[in-house]
Amino acid sequence: MTAPQNLLIAGSGFLSSAVAQWFHGKGWTVSVLTRRPDTAPAQATAVPWDGQSPGEWESALVEADAVVNFCGQSVNCRYNAKNRRAIRESRVQTTRLLGQGIADCPSPPQVWINAASATIYRHAEDRGMDEYHGEPGTGFSVEVCCAWEDEARRWQKPKVRQTLLRTSLVLGHGANSVYPTLARLARLGLAGRMGPGSQFISWIHVEDFCRALEFLIANELAGPVNVTAPEALGELARP
Ligand SMILES: NC(=O)c1ccc[n+]([C@@H]2O[C@H](COP(=O)([O-])OP(=O)(O)OC[C@H]3O[C@@H](n4cnc5c(N)ncnc54)[C@H](OP(=O)(O)O)[C@@H]3O)[C@@H](O)[C@H]2O)c1
Repeated sequence: MTAPQNLLIAGSGFLSSAVAQWFHGKGWTVSVLTRRPDTAPAQATAVPWDGQSPGEWESALVEADAVVNFCGQSVNCRYNAKNRRAIRESRVQTTRLLGQGIADCPSPPQVWINAASATIYRHAEDRGMDEYHGEPGTGFSVEVCCAWEDEARRWQKPKVRQTLLRTSLVLGHGANSVYPTLARLARLGLAGRMGPGSQFISWIHVEDFCRALEFLIANELAGPVNVTAPEALGELARP
């Protein structure tokens, strides 16, 4: 799928805005499923939904050639029981809703790309974690990542290519990105060495993230894909 077509994005946050701008710039028609139509990116048409129930928004699936799900409550919060539930449910439930919508769609999109996270891998200082030999970690965040991917897989359809984005930290200037938060801490004099300093930090620039997404839509890749710069920070400094 290389010629400009119709892209439907779920969620209107940092990555959605960057991706909407990127594909609009390439001549694509972009629509955004959002609970807050006033926050939809300027380059996209807002399609209201509540992220919980089927409705009129499903007609946008018929129009779409590719669907990308970027929904999920921000993880920039205290990990109390209420927030943990919301972090998990906002990802699993929106994935289920889209999966159900695609399953019921008379003319489904050719490609469904669902956000996931490189957090699914164990903390590793011995070797990189790839899609073939990477080992899952343990704990709450990993459990969320597994439930999120499992939910997407439940709704796989033969004619809809599904790709799961195991994305690392995305660096960019968008409002919700991690960069303004880290920059604010640094300005307050709170930056410094994190942890022992021997750990790797996997990252990707937001522009490369958009390029990767374009590549994944255009090419026949399916299943989990690590979306990250080839070298983690720390790796280059190792002897
Ligand atoms: N940014 C990164 O570095 C990074 C790295 C790895 C994975 N990811 C994953 O990629 C996805 C997008 O990341 P992002 O940085 O763009 O996040 P973001 O800016 O926080 O945007 C997430 C969007 O999800 C929607 N949302 C939140 N809670 C929801 C709920 N309960 N029901 C339905 N929709 C809900 C919101 O859209 P509306 O308010 O418009 O409905 C929100 O704008 C997230 O799932 C995140 O975990 C991000």
